[in-house]
Amino acid sequence: MSIFTLTIFGITGNLSQIKLLPALYDMAQKNLLPDISIIGIARKEMDNNAFKKYIYDSLTLQNRHHKHPIDKNIVEKLCKDFRYIRGDVDKPNLYPLLKKHFKKTGTNNNVIYYLATYPDLYDAIFKNLASHKMNRHKNGWVRLMIEKPLGTDLSSAKKLNLLLSEYFSEEQIFRIDHYLGKETIQNILTFRFGNGLFEPLMNKGYIDHIQVTALEDFGIGTRGGYYDSVGALRDVGQNHLLQMLAFATMDAPNEFSNPEITKKRLEILKSLVPAKKAVFGQYETYQNEQNVIGNSQTDTFFAFKTYIHNKRFEGIPVYIRAGKQMKETVTEISIIFKVPINRLFKHIHLGNQPNVLIYRIQPNEGIILKILGKKPGHEIALSPEYMEFCYRNLLPHKLPDPYERLLSDAIRGDQTFFNDAAEVEAQWRFIDPLLANRSAPAIYKEGSWGPKTADDLIEKDGRSWLIPSPQYCRI
Ligand code: BG6
Repeated sequence: MSIFTLTIFGITGNLSQIKLLPALYDMAQKNLLPDISIIGIARKEMDNNAFKKYIYDSLTLQNRHHKHPIDKNIVEKLCKDFRYIRGDVDKPNLYPLLKKHFKKTGTNNNVIYYLATYPDLYDAIFKNLASHKMNRHKNGWVRLMIEKPLGTDLSSAKKLNLLLSEYFSEEQIFRIDHYLGKETIQNILTFRFGNGLFEPLMNKGYIDHIQVTALEDFGIGTRGGYYDSVGALRDVGQNHLLQMLAFATMDAPNEFSNPEITKKRLEILKSLVPAKKAVFGQYETYQNEQNVIGNSQTDTFFAFKTYIHNKRFEGIPVYIRAGKQMKETVTEISIIFKVPINRLFKHIHLGNQPNVLIYRIQPNEGIILKILGKKPGHEIALSPEYMEFCYRNLLPHKLPDPYERLLSDAIRGDQTFFNDAAEVEAQWRFIDPLLANRSAPAIYKEGSWGPKTADDLIEKDGRSWLIPSPQYCRI
């Protein structure tokens, strides 16, 4: 007898291999999958043994976020309640098979459908679920997990939201942005609203500007087919980076609940001042990557400046950048504070340096506060020092993967760290003009900090990009 069935459409796809199976493995290891049955659906012919082998092989693939050794006993444990069903998701004959399975396992009407498949199949899946009365149940619950790409612009995102709303209610839909499942992003709320010390400083009276950075020291690998049609701004800008900014700048929710937190994130997304233009870049060898079209103008880097139009942040610039094949892999949000006019040590070397608060999302996860300290000795000399809260001190082993967190939340029916329809649309509303105003990407060297145009963007304001330090919270 199971409590519910997790049904994964597209179990042999990239998302399942790289994200879902590792998360399910970790959950099985931690006994977080009690009494559930899992169904994986794909078109490939596989018997039970071949499916088990597929799971094992997927778990042992090289994976940036899932590096620990794989224990065959845990794989066995995971496979015990995992069934493979071969079928075409757009053909009606698959759905009675699913229904039969739900009945057999006793999960009755409690189901999560995970769409790990191509968006062009959504329509057919929804129609089939509806015609077999599987999208809503009077007794029991049905939830749908869906993720990027949630449209390619505002108009297609609206269409997708409309399609979803024909078959599911908003309470049933769990739109994933896996950044919301990152411990370090969620910790921003605790840091800001669970302490009294910093929040009074989070406003234009104290802040000079904000930087949001997501850099990766690797390229697109084998994902050319997908990536070349979207580019960096759609791939991570429309979603992860805007959400990072929302967490760092949203107002305090009245309570820790899904409606309140979502409302506050949405307020920020809606108050972003449309940026006129973004700077785009492309790494030098991008055009040689697999499945990239010749003379591709796709961006692998972008940077732009915006403002938040509200009382708290009016007039404070926010600089956002992301890129592939950069000098380092680092994701962080930096709050750069103003230097008070009457600071005592301003005339001394380094005395004019600002305090900076850094939310280090990854790697070396933590929160760092840059302060000035006195250099020991007879002179009055200053040196920048770093006060650190580091996860490595809290947790000797790895933080839970975002997919593990988000699957657990969906199982519990908690939508706090999922996006609703309005958020996705607000994000596209902001990104659309930048896409419409696109210029050809500037070529940059692999292992650099991106094109010079990105430096110009911030330097013309008399500021510069912070160089992310590998020293923070070093493991
Ligand atoms: C994905 C993007 O959503 O996020 C990838 O498609 C990117 O291009 C990835 O590399 C970054 O996520 P993470 O968790 O590795 O920082």
